[in-house]
Amino acid sequence: MHKKTLSDIDISGKKVLIRIDFNVPLDEHQNITDNTRIKAALPTINYLLENNAAIILMSHLGRPKGELKSTFSLEPVAKRLKEIIGKKVYFVHDCIGDEVKQAAKNLKPGEILLLENTRFHPEEKKNDPEFAKELASIADVFVNDAFGTAHRAHASNVGVAEYLPSVVGFLIEKEIEFLDKALLNPEKPYTAILGGVKVSDKIDLIEQLLEKADSILVGGAMMYTFLRAQGYSTGKSLVEEDKIPAALEIMEKAKEKGVNLYLPEDTVVAKEIKEGAEFHSVPVDAIPNDMIGLDIGILTVRKYTEIIKPSKTVIWNGPMGMFEIGSFSHGTKGIARAVAACSGITIIGGGDSAAAIEKFGFADKVSHISTGGGASLEYLSGKKLPGISVIPDK
Ligand code: 3PG
Repeated sequence: MHKKTLSDIDISGKKVLIRIDFNVPLDEHQNITDNTRIKAALPTINYLLENNAAIILMSHLGRPKGELKSTFSLEPVAKRLKEIIGKKVYFVHDCIGDEVKQAAKNLKPGEILLLENTRFHPEEKKNDPEFAKELASIADVFVNDAFGTAHRAHASNVGVAEYLPSVVGFLIEKEIEFLDKALLNPEKPYTAILGGVKVSDKIDLIEQLLEKADSILVGGAMMYTFLRAQGYSTGKSLVEEDKIPAALEIMEKAKEKGVNLYLPEDTVVAKEIKEGAEFHSVPVDAIPNDMIGLDIGILTVRKYTEIIKPSKTVIWNGPMGMFEIGSFSHGTKGIARAVAACSGITIIGGGDSAAAIEKFGFADKVSHISTGGGASLEYLSGKKLPGISVIPDK
């Protein structure tokens, strides 16, 4: 990694301010339903504990729109972190102000303090310099380890770096190391599996893949836009009408560049999107007018599995169907199984694909699951992430 990292600085006896992505999923009672992002922060936190630093953690949670909303409080995260790490975690009800200054001042090496949600202040998303300066004022060093937020240019991950010596943490280092395996010189054959709802979200990524990948396997609701571009009727399936020309252009470019772009051969259709709805599989040229396409079919799973199997590099971004509903989960599960069985480097983009691989029990069978949905998508699309660019080079 060409950016300064934790290993490049002396943190002993220092107050270290760390931006983490603790934007964890909560249920209606504010219970954390997935610890992945908390656990992903542990290598950096443990290293700082072992090296005698006083640790001040900050994060956003959800989108409270610049207002104090108790349902977006980070207090449950302080409790969960304490359970996981087996150590007291102090918590303050704001991220700036006197209470915060005092708590930071009292904090001793080997102790941990978590600040309240930075997005309770509108200045956070505006990357307000005064707010950033205030955040920075309680520490000697800044560590950005919030990979999931690295595509945002906010005060707590970008602005603050203007006021303190700054480095990236071990999570960002690991994410970049793996994502670069696909982005820079992927071992071939290189296969990309793309799903999810919208083609429009993936156009930049596809452009990037057309330069590097050998095969692109399309699934998810975005497949229906491609099928329409090929002239098929797609019944009541979701189609981005205005992206049909873009889909056509992508298919033409793939042909020119010798990239194999595969569309599904069959799809699962139903009249209703609900658990228990009647469903069946049809060839993609026979989608009934009154039906919605909700998953890839078994023939497609088999074909894609054959392509994934010998691949040396695989990236997967976006589920193959509406996997949250059992009847429409088989395509995504089949692809998760195929990726898990592949002996090459297998990288799962964050967000829904990460949730899917977890749900089907294959999380420990892949090389890397990114903790950032939007961030990994932007990075793999070849864009610079502001949260990383702001950190000085080694
Ligand atoms: C995420 O979950 O993708 C990150 O935490 C960023 O959250 P945001 O999309 O609300 O900025």
